[in-house]
Amino acid sequence: MKLRTSLSVLATVASCAIAGQAVAADAAPVGNVQNARDKVSMCIGCHGIPGYKASFPELYHVPMIAGQNAKYIEAALNEYKKGARSHPTMDAIAGSLSDQDIADLAAYYANLK
Ligand code: HEC
Repeated sequence: MKLRTSLSVLATVASCAIAGQAVAADAAPVGNVQNARDKVSMCIGCHGIPGYKASFPELYHVPMIAGQNAKYIEAALNEYKKGARSHPTMDAIAGSLSDQDIADLAAYYANLK
């Protein structure tokens, strides 16, 4: 009896986790441009300068992200974070960002012209 109960609890938790993920995907954090202002300090060193190239560890062309679609920026940051896309600095930076940070930064850069 005890085992059955914990099994059904487990099953419930598991299905909630799956449902929760589906909901989370729909209700992604809403980006707040104002909150991003404290966070962009770690991006502007590279992304703030048109045509700037990062020189570490090799010479990289730093893409323009100002004015990009917020979804595009968000997707790119999530790809670095999850390792689907890889670049030494961007991996490290995206890895330190929460979903909310990413949404805020995406909103900020999307609104930056
Ligand atoms: C040390 C320099 C550096 C810093 C700091 C930096 N980036 Fe980047 N970023 C790059 C480079 C270089 C690339 C291109 C990497 C590649 O080719 O995948 C890039 C790529 C990106 C992309 C993908 C753009 C595209 O068009 O595919 C996004 C989005 C991005 N960065 C956002 C950010 C945000 C937001 C921050 C701050 C939290 C940040 N970056 C900080 C150098 C930097």
